[in-house]
Amino acid sequence: MSLEIIEKIRESDSLELALENALNKLKRAVKKRNDDLHLLNFVTVDDRNIPNTRNVVLRDFSVEDLTVRFHTDKRSSKIQDIKVNRDVCLIGYDKRAKLQIRIDAEAKALEDEEILMDIWQKMYPMSRECYRVSKSPGEEIKSLSEIKFDEDNESNLIGFDNFVAVECNIKSLEILYLSHVTHIRAKYKNNNGVLKGEWIVP
Ligand SMILES: Cc1cc2nc3c(=O)[nH]c(=O)nc-3n(C[C@H](O)[C@H](O)[C@H](O)COP(=O)(O)O)c2cc1C
Repeated sequence: MSLEIIEKIRESDSLELALENALNKLKRAVKKRNDDLHLLNFVTVDDRNIPNTRNVVLRDFSVEDLTVRFHTDKRSSKIQDIKVNRDVCLIGYDKRAKLQIRIDAEAKALEDEEILMDIWQKMYPMSRECYRVSKSPGEEIKSLSEIKFDEDNESNLIGFDNFVAVECNIKSLEILYLSHVTHIRAKYKNNNGVLKGEWIVP
């Protein structure tokens, strides 16, 4: 299947088809836990200009708004990083589709309490649990016994204050299809809400 679509893209020389397929893969990956693209690598640059990278779960992808969203702890270093530098990268690789997707974006932590509460209420209790960790993520500890969780109660709101969603506004999106013939690579820039692409030598 992956080879078929890659050949179709090659034969048609269609930037639109190459993009449409990649966007569909991202869209599908939001709901599918086992999809390779359900996990993206999120790269920030900190206040000393040092890059940091980590995996995050893709929670939402909007083709209309050209945004990618994931959930995190407000106390984590990625949040500190995007406060000083909003420029970020996201990258993932769908092994079956032989497709790498690389995104340049501007990230912001969502502040709208109503939106955050709506997401929180829809989350599995297990997913909410990590936000109840008492000390801040990334803090050094002497022993594993120092990892403690604030007790939950019937409000289910313990940990909510630590929870945040990060929205990444896509500035450009680059795709790379691996093929035994020649790889296919294209970069699409966000031009007033429309992704405008050009082929690139792979
Ligand atoms: C499979 C997997 C999924 C993860 N998903 C998330 C996530 O959605 N959000 C998150 O904040 N951290 C997630 N993490 C943990 C991060 O990769 C990272 O270790 C943590 O957020 C601390 O990052 P920071 O200190 O660089 O901010 C995930 C880790 C793995 C291995």
